[in-house]
Amino acid sequence: MRLSPLTKKMTALAKAVEWLANAQRLVVFTGAGVSAESGIPTFRDQLTGLWAKFDPAQLATATAFRNDPALVWGWYEWRRAQVAKALPNAAHVAIAASARHVPELVVVTQNVDDLHERAGSNDVIHLHGSLQVARCFACARPHPLAQCPSTGVEASRLEPPRCTHCNGKIRPGVVWFGEDLPETALRTAFKSARNADLLLSVGTSGLVYPAACIPEIARENGARVVHINTEPADTKDATTLTGRAGEWLPKLLDAACGTDPGN
Ligand code: OAD
Repeated sequence: MRLSPLTKKMTALAKAVEWLANAQRLVVFTGAGVSAESGIPTFRDQLTGLWAKFDPAQLATATAFRNDPALVWGWYEWRRAQVAKALPNAAHVAIAASARHVPELVVVTQNVDDLHERAGSNDVIHLHGSLQVARCFACARPHPLAQCPSTGVEASRLEPPRCTHCNGKIRPGVVWFGEDLPETALRTAFKSARNADLLLSVGTSGLVYPAACIPEIARENGARVVHINTEPADTKDATTLTGRAGEWLPKLLDAACGTDPGN
């Protein structure tokens, strides 16, 4: 028997609701799509993604920073300014609210924004670092950032500040291509995935490793896995809610836990 797309969607929702209602150890694994409805661009969406417009080799590697620190620093300060103006959306709020209904919740994000925290999530694991922190490119000492980013203008060049200790150039506290992920964050994320009974993967293309292993680790260790994405998942065995995270997550939480995440 062939299920219609609507029946498939309802079946997926019913499964996800039951799993969330019974979850004891939930991991919510997020990517850029969770912040898209806050106005923060994703990386790989065809027209609006950052990598459709900018070349990661010129902006997101240590070599790029060595070659043109002002270009790289200006670009990250522009992104920090975008985040500063943005507000958490219904997806971030629903994720934070789910902590009140599931005994254990771990939020693991690939995002470098702070929208999960501003929605009320605690102890968020940032696998790819954060725009809110910076460190010296030479001596790696942390460097405090002014609350207000120095530019709100796209692609404006900006000389990075200097380290007060060694006068080295200050770099953004994000993970660049070719760099290792923060060890403790990765270890804790993998452990949480192994321990989870439900993993919600929200708004990620799942193309960047090792972070992309996380849903697979959870599944291999017996967890249910639900993908929430505007694009249909191309894996046959995945339960997918196709559509916007800001629509699905409040619905899911409400149906599973009888709650309005806004309250
Ligand atoms: P991508 O841009 O690769 O993927 C974003 C995903 O979100 C896509 O699959 C979209 O279909 C989906 N999406 C868009 N809007 C959505 C919405 N409103 N609701 C639900 N889903 C939505 O972003 P990531 O998977 O996060 O790394 O990318 C992973 C890493 O690649 C990033 O952390 C970054 C990048 O290079 C570093 O900077 C190290």
